[in-house]
Amino acid sequence: MATLAFDRQLDQVAEAAKRIPTADARELAALKTELLGRKAGILTRLLRQLPELPPEERRAVGARANQLRRELEAAFEARESELKRRELEAAALDLTMPGRLRWRGAVHPVTQVVDEICEIFRELGFTRVTGPEVETEEYNFTKLNISLDHPAADAQDTFYLGPRLLLRTHTSPMQAHIMERYPPPIRIVVPGQVYRRDAFDPSHSPVFEQIEGLVVDEGISFVDFKAGIEFFVKRFFSPDTPVRFRPSFFPFTEPSADVDVQCQICKGSGCPTCKRTGFLEIMGAGMVHPAVFEACGVDPERYTGYAFGMGPHRIAMLRYAIPDIRLFWTNDMRFLGQFVD
Ligand code: DAH
Repeated sequence: MATLAFDRQLDQVAEAAKRIPTADARELAALKTELLGRKAGILTRLLRQLPELPPEERRAVGARANQLRRELEAAFEARESELKRRELEAAALDLTMPGRLRWRGAVHPVTQVVDEICEIFRELGFTRVTGPEVETEEYNFTKLNISLDHPAADAQDTFYLGPRLLLRTHTSPMQAHIMERYPPPIRIVVPGQVYRRDAFDPSHSPVFEQIEGLVVDEGISFVDFKAGIEFFVKRFFSPDTPVRFRPSFFPFTEPSADVDVQCQICKGSGCPTCKRTGFLEIMGAGMVHPAVFEACGVDPERYTGYAFGMGPHRIAMLRYAIPDIRLFWTNDMRFLGQFVD
């Protein structure tokens, strides 16, 4: 082959090499085979044919061909490492990407209300305690002066687990447990779940929260009772919230009262929520009945006390104007998200 033909082919190779810097991975591999392939690569073939040239031409052409091969090899290597780098970059961390928000837990609105209520009573020296949800008839009813033929003890209202064994229908049994275990003075609040055989409806649930309160000491009077409850109500709602004590009946207190606060929705002017009375009942309460003291080993001649029971679900509904108690169990983030601070 003549030098001229050699040179032309080297020109072609040089021309093809211009595609290297922009080739993608597939083109690059094809180009490499086409130009430098061991068997049929154009440059490889040309180099192999060098000895056919007359010696005086061989040196110049050979020098050019070898120079071209080095350039090609360098160009392929540069492009290959460039493509490799880009591939790694694509798979690696992108520090400019916006971060993902951490999944943040929050306290359930009813738990928030329970904590807040217990915290207010803590300021008055009350201790927070909890007790069992499974109770005996004795603690749930008898020791609290509720006879078993009282409507509250009816199997219609109570989930019985076995003979004389049941799911507590209120947190009041803890009054008896505490009085039996600890001598006065006693100041406790007892939050916890209670169970009743009610169907779900906007204001009922077969399981709901209660907070029991009990104070026992020498010289506790009706004044202490009213002052304690009023302190709580004004602290929890607002200092100017009207509070009302209505005569009521509970077997375990005497006298007994229902405690009302001014309706938080209509502010006393009367609305469907308060049935146009302007007030809403938030708890039952009263002075501890001597029969309860006796049943729990506390001397009723020496000690007096007061007790109360309230429903945090109901209180949360009043405070936040929640129309349906079932919302508390739906785990709907649109609802729960409103109570995250
Ligand atoms: N145990 C009552 C209930 O579940 C609530 C209650 C009323 C508790 C008066 C008390 C109380 O301690 O004095 O309906």
